[in-house]
Amino acid sequence: MSMKTVLFAAGLAVLAGPALAQSYPDRPITMVVPFAAGGPTDTVARLVAQSMSQTLGQQVVIENVGGAGGTLGAGRVAKADPDGYTLLLHHIGQATSATLYRKLPYKTLEDFKAVGLVTDVPMTIVTRKDFPAKDLKELIAYVKANKDKVTLGNAGVGSASHLCGMLIQEAIQTQLVTAVYKGTGPAMNDLVGGQIDLMCDQTTNTTGQIKGGAIKAYAVTTPKRLPSMPDLPTTAEAGLPNLQVGIWHGIYAPKGTPDAAIQKLSEALQKALADENVIKRFAELGTLPEPKERATPAAHQQHVASEIARWKSVIEAAGVFAD
Ligand code: MLT
Repeated sequence: MSMKTVLFAAGLAVLAGPALAQSYPDRPITMVVPFAAGGPTDTVARLVAQSMSQTLGQQVVIENVGGAGGTLGAGRVAKADPDGYTLLLHHIGQATSATLYRKLPYKTLEDFKAVGLVTDVPMTIVTRKDFPAKDLKELIAYVKANKDKVTLGNAGVGSASHLCGMLIQEAIQTQLVTAVYKGTGPAMNDLVGGQIDLMCDQTTNTTGQIKGGAIKAYAVTTPKRLPSMPDLPTTAEAGLPNLQVGIWHGIYAPKGTPDAAIQKLSEALQKALADENVIKRFAELGTLPEPKERATPAAHQQHVASEIARWKSVIEAAGVFAD
């Protein structure tokens, strides 16, 4: 083959962008969780990663990168090689951070390729077990009367617990002292220990603690009660009808990741969402896998765009921004 032909072929290969080895994946894949281990996002990620590993034939290894409400971990993936070996599993914070942060280290819609939606997790309003309130009405009355003493825990601006806490404070027109953690895994330890008073956190992190009596629950942020906790009233029943929020979770790859890799990952995700073990564990934790048609890359990309628009007005009205 003449040198001219070799150079021409090499040029074509460069133009074609990063080709994907037929054997993809041929080594473990890293799935970044942008919050501390042991929290709700970590719980969802480990369940899905375990099932995807079986389909892909390679380990999907969780790497917890907490901080800045999830934006540090998201930034790590935005800058990763687009070779299909670094993924992000993040929740609604991927959309809300686009408004909350004036200086994000990435462009939310341009710097990621959606793989698919995973699940939409309810939130619960919970306190330390000896908090002096027997229902949400008493909780609100106590909080308003003691606002400088009640500490609200969350995982930083951009986290789901921050978003729900913001909605609660808006609804009761009361600003609370906030304790910030790298995830509601560590925050939950302090709630159980009584170091903080109040949190709004996902059922994937609170269900076990509520059922075990380690914390007290007042309401769930869904339109209907949960089969997993039928005695827990909805926010509407308990007196905060406008406080309804679900924490959707999705998987992303860095922009430039070959479509063939996205397709393989999407197929593995779809299988995980139909995995009996995943379905069973999700149900025990108060949530469900996304339906197939919503778990596609295109549906997920569209969902992120519409959620950025949806939450932009809510966040701007609340006037809550990160530096
Ligand atoms: C959140 O509030 O967004 C959660 O803390 C996320 C997590 O820790 O998994």
